[in-house]
Amino acid sequence: MNYSYLAKPDTLDPKIASLRLTTRKESYILQLESGRNVISLGIGEMKEMTRRKLMLLARRIIVFAKNQRIKSVAISFADFAFSHLKIKENDLAELLAVNFEMANYEFIKYKNPPKEGWPSVEEIVVLGKITKEGKNGLERGKIIGEGVNAARTLSNTPGGEMTPQLLGESAQEAVKGTNVKVKVLGLSEIQKLRMGGLLGVSQGSSQEPRFIILEYRGASAQDRPIVLVGKGITFDSGGINLKPEQSMLDMHMDMSGGAAVIHALVLASKLKIKNNVIGLIPAAENMPSGSSYRPGDVIRTMSGKTVEILSTDAEGRVVMADAFTYAKRYNPQLIVDAATLTGSAVVALGLRASALFATNEKLEKNVRDLGEESGDYVWPFPMWSEYEEDIQGTFGDLNNTGKSRWGGAITAALFLKQFTEQYPFVHLDIAPRMTSVEGEFLAKGATGVPVRLFVKIIERL
Ligand code: BES
Ligand code: MG
Ligand code: ZN
Repeated sequence: MNYSYLAKPDTLDPKIASLRLTTRKESYILQLESGRNVISLGIGEMKEMTRRKLMLLARRIIVFAKNQRIKSVAISFADFAFSHLKIKENDLAELLAVNFEMANYEFIKYKNPPKEGWPSVEEIVVLGKITKEGKNGLERGKIIGEGVNAARTLSNTPGGEMTPQLLGESAQEAVKGTNVKVKVLGLSEIQKLRMGGLLGVSQGSSQEPRFIILEYRGASAQDRPIVLVGKGITFDSGGINLKPEQSMLDMHMDMSGGAAVIHALVLASKLKIKNNVIGLIPAAENMPSGSSYRPGDVIRTMSGKTVEILSTDAEGRVVMADAFTYAKRYNPQLIVDAATLTGSAVVALGLRASALFATNEKLEKNVRDLGEESGDYVWPFPMWSEYEEDIQGTFGDLNNTGKSRWGGAITAALFLKQFTEQYPFVHLDIAPRMTSVEGEFLAKGATGVPVRLFVKIIERL
């Protein structure tokens, strides 16, 4: 979308729709004598507005305009000045633009366009007085929203096309023109590193694995980086422990954590964030075949720890383990991972929040707050050592699943923690937020979670 500014609202081109927010319930379109369309949106009691609702309101404006095939919408910051929210102008502007962009997105790569073209909004005109901070916020919001959408496109791309190789190439493509360096390790390099987890999971697929490394330096060389790790399973069939049909359907999005890491690094550069950030993505396809890893196999991970495979469908933690071991060479100040890791997190939370695990309470609180601010909501779970009992190995050092059906998101988190050693660690199980839900005014498919939260974390933690 394009953003432009118009100080004198009365000179606005009548072809551009304007916006009116009312306390009513209903929303409609009004045509003025001048020919101008007015989008009248009912938003209920002004004093009941919250930051969360404001994000949805921004999206509603775009969805409403799209449905009416309106291409240009004029807004004014004054309309959104809900003073009790105490939102500064740059924050408000950023929030609006991020959500405008997210609502404008559709995954249309594989569809022929309708005769009238796609109904996207092309232009936002900001009326009235706008400060430098406001403009800056819009600019940032547009960049962040585009980053979220780019991650959604990677996630939405079908598994037959989005292979580990293409994920690696997509990372190389995405960083063009930025200060992010990418290295994509292939099979022989992964073998040399003895990444037994990544090799084990990928061995049943005709697609070779990749290990994607992104480096962004926004601070001095001796500043310890934040390492972001993203699960990059490009299709999760479950492997020999094949998933039932319903559960397999969306599993081309099992690289959503990886997609978010790629675009968080790109955003670090575009927003000139003053921190060092590393992105690591173990990428593989989990397939059943004569060469697959099997239940009962014992795998030696890069760390030296061995893992008995109780289920080939608990593959995410097995590939992530090697990425955490690789992370050690950066001596990180913090490791944060995002992984569509467990159905159990979805059972616990539904589709509205990702599961948050942190190695200390301060970290947990900070990430929760940043989640709230960003719109990528997270909710805390325990990462107590008591749960480690559940993943102690019989024939290997560890089992890749818990011993019972209970607490699967937690045992998965504790499994990961065995590989992050002493480093402060935040694990985001984003399985609940992998796909959008009705009523959040986002296109069907991937949500781009947690790109927005990653940006806050690397900027502010
Ligand atoms: N990718 C899945 C988890 C998932 C489920 C993501 C639903 C998004 C939506 C993961 O690899 C998986 O299969 N986990 C298993 C683990 C189990 C075998 C211990 C699960 O949650 O069922
Ligand atoms: Mg699985
Ligand atoms: Zn998976």
